[in-house]
Amino acid sequence: MGIQPVILDHPLIQHKISLMRDKNTGSKEFRELITEVTMLMCFEATRDLPLKEVEIETPIALAKTKVISGRKLAFVPILRAGMGMLDGVLKLLPAAKVGHIGLYRDPDTHLPVEYYCKLPSDISERDVIVIDPMLATGGSAIDAISQVKKRGVKSIKFMCIIAAPEGLEALTAAHPDVPVYIAALDERLNESKYIVPGLGDAGDRIYGTK
Ligand code: PRP
Ligand code: URA
Repeated sequence: MGIQPVILDHPLIQHKISLMRDKNTGSKEFRELITEVTMLMCFEATRDLPLKEVEIETPIALAKTKVISGRKLAFVPILRAGMGMLDGVLKLLPAAKVGHIGLYRDPDTHLPVEYYCKLPSDISERDVIVIDPMLATGGSAIDAISQVKKRGVKSIKFMCIIAAPEGLEALTAAHPDVPVYIAALDERLNESKYIVPGLGDAGDRIYGTK
């Protein structure tokens, strides 16, 4: 069995996800909410970042204090909807590099089709967090993480806002070594492989398409 997923169900996160789920929430507010939820999630998903001691002169005295050290980070949003989470993570970790993986789900087979992949050249020396708001069948996340692993990355996390049990099971079976951070674990997938109750098509909600 793989690492247990971390469910980040802080009241602030739950409240904001309820607003995101509401079909009457428009794209502008949806984008603001996804950024806020992502920042709150990133706070927890980076809890294990290593620190080193430094000496800093405050206006009062010399202080031994701590700053983040160790390997550098890269975020990899899965296009399109993963881009909605990028502002939130970069607000907290602005020096991180960003790779992009373009995948869409074939509407008939529901399998992911890759159309783009551009990752930082030094990605194998970085810790990577793959981001996508939705984990439905798990196909997109599994493929994206496999692409990142192929580049020799040793430490990968996956962060999504809403997951279906089916997708979570598939992802942890395919990549048992990858810690998964979820804000809400929903009931199931419907016959069109949409998450129930979910929030609909995340890309369409972010960009006002459909
Ligand atoms: C959505 C979502 C995930 C994928 C999840 O993207 O952002 O990438 O579906 O489904 P899965 O777990 O069954 O693979 P979509 O394919 O709709 O593309 P988009 O982001 O371009 O809208
Ligand atoms: N992709 C989405 O955007 N929403 C779902 O419910 C499933 C896949």
